[in-house]
Amino acid sequence: MTPVLIDCDPGIDDTLALIYLGALHHLGEIELVGVTTTAGNTTATQAAGNARWVLDQLGIDVPVVAGESGPRQVALTTTPETHGPTGLGYLEVPEAPGGDWEEVWREGVDKHADLRLIVTGPLTDLDAFRRSHPEHYARLRHVTVMGGAVNYRGNTTPTAEWNFWVDPHAAAQVFDNPPGARIRLCSLEVTEQFLVDPDRLLLLIDALGDSPVAARLEDILRFYFEFHHAQGEGYQAQIHDLLTCMIALGKIGFEDVATTIAVEADSPLMRGTSVADLRGHWHRPQNARLVTAADIGTAHGELDRAARALAGPGAVH
Ligand code: BDR
Ligand code: CA
Repeated sequence: MTPVLIDCDPGIDDTLALIYLGALHHLGEIELVGVTTTAGNTTATQAAGNARWVLDQLGIDVPVVAGESGPRQVALTTTPETHGPTGLGYLEVPEAPGGDWEEVWREGVDKHADLRLIVTGPLTDLDAFRRSHPEHYARLRHVTVMGGAVNYRGNTTPTAEWNFWVDPHAAAQVFDNPPGARIRLCSLEVTEQFLVDPDRLLLLIDALGDSPVAARLEDILRFYFEFHHAQGEGYQAQIHDLLTCMIALGKIGFEDVATTIAVEADSPLMRGTSVADLRGHWHRPQNARLVTAADIGTAHGELDRAARALAGPGAVH
């Protein structure tokens, strides 16, 4: 079983990522060893409450712990206009208290040499772990990150993607000082292609059958549809973080390229901008595998397959 630790900021697309990971956990394809949260779409404690709620719906009892309360060098910005007042669209659930999130990471690294770490929020926790536990950080060999609008237009500023924009210093530091192996980076150009619209949502709800989470998905996703519609992107939603999990676990086909990524942290206009040196102009060591394409058709089928594992009263354990 592949051990997986996710650091996320649910967040509506993070929520679908958690449902997917929960299904794989239920299927015995992964062992979800823990969930930690980063401040971004909402506060870290609210994100932990949201994650706890999702896992409770799935009957999964693994550690869920709030991470750092916000970036070290800039004020925290959250985005209730994108993900709803508390991160789950029109659904509101209680916050969860903080705890020793670094213990969850440390244990994950100590117990599982092949741990998959997936980060679907700002890189605040990853950078904090780099500073507080450099030896454990160096042993992280399978890190997949959703972030950046690499050599591409942003969704937060003309050039920056949200996760990198929220904590640009953390993103910059992580790519300047990468862990034990190149980070696999799923950037906006690829993740924004994974779209769920009301018809696909109905299919998902149907596939989830009697799973308790099915009855709440409409309240959660409707907010995200409305946000994307208001942005001129159609009555649908980009599900970045779920696609990132599928890529991290090799569940769908994708292409990537080894390259050098840098993130701008201090320039006011270019905050959070990420660049890949695809032609080696910088003569700096490669620090990432940038995902350049993903099989989106297969991703929809993969979500359906996983959701069916959660259907029915006997499915949850
Ligand atoms: C990323 O930003 C957040 O709003 C989403 O959850 C995703 O992780 C996309 O830019
Ligand atoms: Ca996210």
